[in-house]
Amino acid sequence: MRHANSFIASEERIEGFTHVLLITTGSVASVKAPLITKELLKFDKVKVEVISTQASLTFFDVEDVEMSGARVWVDKDEWSDDYKIGDPILHIELRRWADIVLIAPCSANTLSKIAHGLCDNLATSLLRALSPSTPTYVFPAMNTLMYEHPLTSEHIRIVKEVIRYQVVGPIGKTLACGDVGLGAMTEWKDIVQIVVERFGLCQK
Ligand SMILES: Cc1cc2nc3c(=O)[nH]c(=O)nc-3n(C[C@H](O)[C@H](O)[C@H](O)COP(=O)(O)O)c2cc1C
Repeated sequence: MRHANSFIASEERIEGFTHVLLITTGSVASVKAPLITKELLKFDKVKVEVISTQASLTFFDVEDVEMSGARVWVDKDEWSDDYKIGDPILHIELRRWADIVLIAPCSANTLSKIAHGLCDNLATSLLRALSPSTPTYVFPAMNTLMYEHPLTSEHIRIVKEVIRYQVVGPIGKTLACGDVGLGAMTEWKDIVQIVVERFGLCQK
């Protein structure tokens, strides 16, 4: 566990760099987190930080991400038992730091929480406190029937039309659970490509 004071946006931001915040949630597609961070960090002047929900930690090894040069922040990093007024607050510091937020993968649960304004963990607290001017991309990933559930289209509608995030995917393929159909996360290389094109990144 890191101390809640260990991330201060003004000290972590580097002039001229693109600061990418990746949020991973409890979909099997979180296995792609190490690939996404490693690929992004092949580009010049890019920094990556990762926020992972408790459920998403099942699907990848934090060390694999940290070896590529990005830190993984989890709910307990937000809380310290010696908080004093004026101390930095992790979800606020991370949102100040971010030039772009990728929610990849976005589980049905987190999609629903975003649509309803819930903010009961580090990821959703950050999103609730995020400036509307920070580009934010949602990459849903879930079982086909979860995706076809009538609430999912309503949550996606709110996320697009009310919150004004970009929703990309899901795509159709054979899912980890064996079902065939819509629900898979957009290919991880295409997710990286969105950042590359938006910020005109060049390989190191
Ligand atoms: C092995 C396994 C795979 C799962 N895959 C998905 C998935 O692809 N998409 C999804 O929305 N939920 C999936 N779930 C369910 C979520 O992990 C669960 O709803 C969880 O509460 C999500 O929490 P989070 O949104 O805070 O990450 C899966 C659960 C398990 C046990």
